[in-house]
Amino acid sequence: MKAVIFDLDGVITDTAEYHYLAWKSLADELNLPFDKEFNEKLKGVSRMESLELILSLGDTAYSDEEKKALAEKKNDLYKEMIAKVTPADLLPGIEALLKELQEAGIGTALASASKNAPFILDRLGVTHYFNHVVDVNLIKQGKPDPEIFLTGAAKLGVLPEECVGIEDAEAGIESILSAGMYAVGVGTPAQMQKADLIVSSTAELSLSLLKENFKQKTK
Ligand code: G6P
Ligand code: MG
Repeated sequence: MKAVIFDLDGVITDTAEYHYLAWKSLADELNLPFDKEFNEKLKGVSRMESLELILSLGDTAYSDEEKKALAEKKNDLYKEMIAKVTPADLLPGIEALLKELQEAGIGTALASASKNAPFILDRLGVTHYFNHVVDVNLIKQGKPDPEIFLTGAAKLGVLPEECVGIEDAEAGIESILSAGMYAVGVGTPAQMQKADLIVSSTAELSLSLLKENFKQKTK
C-alpha cells in the first residue's frame, strides 16, 4: 500500500448534508418532490448532473442558461453554508489517519467531484496533509468512471493497484474498483455492497486497519 486516495464529502467531513439542504431549498422553490432518499443518487455526482437529476423530477424544460443560473443559485447557498466550516467539522478519526499516513510516508490525494473541495480542505485546516488534490476542472468523466482516482494515483507517481480509495457513495466505490484499487466504503453493508472493506464510521479507520486488510488487485 503506497497511497490512500480520499473522497471528501461524507469521508473527511459531512458537507453531504449541506449539499442536500442547498438542493432541497432549490427543489422546494421549483415545487419538485426532492427528498433524502433521492439525494442518495446525487452523492459523488457533479453539480450539473445533480441538477439534471433533480429537474427530471418535474416536467418543465429549462434552457442551458436557466440551468446555469439554477446551479449557481444552489452553489451560492452552499458556499454560504461551507463558509462556516471549521476543523471541528472533520469526521472522527480522519485527522489521526492523515497524521499516521504522513508519518509513515504513505502518499495521500483527494479525489472529490466538488469544485469547492480546496476551499473546504482549507477551512478544515487539513490541506497540508495532502500530497495532491485532483483538479476536478480537468476531469472529463465523473464517478463511477475511474478517471479521478486514476489521476490521483498518477499525480502521486504510484500504480493504481498500490492504492486504497475511501468513499461513502456507490458511484465512488465503483470508480475505485474500476481503477483497480482497493475500495474502502464508509456506510452500511447494504450501501457499500461492492466495497472490499466496510466501516460503519470513519472513527474505525486507521493505518493498521488499512495495512492489515489491503490486498493488491491482480489485473
Ligand atoms: C461531491 C458531492 C456531490 C456534489 C459534487 C459537486 O461529489 O458528493 O453531492 O454535487 O461534489 O460539488 P460542487 O461543490 O462542485 O457543486
Ligand atoms: Mg462522498
